[in-house]
Amino acid sequence: MERTEHRADATPFLPARRDLRALRAAAAACRGCHLHAPATQTVFGAGLKRSRVMMVGEMPGDREDLAGHPFVGPAGRELDKALAATGIDRRDVYITNVVKHFKFEERGKRRIHQTPKRFEMDACLPWLRAELAAVGPEVLVLLGATAGKALIGPSFKLGAVRGRPVASDLAALVTATAHPSAILRAPDDESRRAARRDFTSDLGAVAAFLAR
Ligand code: URA
Ligand code: SF4
Repeated sequence: MERTEHRADATPFLPARRDLRALRAAAAACRGCHLHAPATQTVFGAGLKRSRVMMVGEMPGDREDLAGHPFVGPAGRELDKALAATGIDRRDVYITNVVKHFKFEERGKRRIHQTPKRFEMDACLPWLRAELAAVGPEVLVLLGATAGKALIGPSFKLGAVRGRPVASDLAALVTATAHPSAILRAPDDESRRAARRDFTSDLGAVAAFLAR
């Protein structure tokens, strides 16, 4: 176990060709870290090479693990609502995660999401970097602190940059907003509405950039 942790790295599994189709096929067989073993399958990014926007979440959840596609569960529904409200076409969005296998703890019949550790994020990062290189989006949207820490750096703080452009050369515009699952975790209706409004407003800035 100890040995696996030290060596965790997806790099040896990356294909020579780096187009999305080849990357997706190779990622399906990734054994770069221990997370592949209990999970159902690799959940690679979804979307077209010509997407103008790339959105990066944390890690697939229970539904995504079973479906094999990112953001198809409750968090995905929140995201879809915000995209519809701001007029961003989902076909313009390539959506992916920092970590490509679902990490969970079994509690009875339920599988409870576990936040990925730094070494797991680092192990999986070569896939995300390859997706970024293949798509070359105009706008990169970091959905939550995990994506920010993975792509900007460990000292990334969402509160400090939310709603403003992030200094980064990863795309013409790099922005950070909350993870849509934060809306689902809101303790009451009022804070849920506020979280939804803030999230939609952050995506509204992306829509304005695309329309400029
Ligand atoms: N949360 C994420 O970060 N990614 C998904 O794909 C689903 C939920
Ligand atoms: Fe490979 Fe990432 Fe899955 Fe680990 S989580 S096995 S690095 S695809």
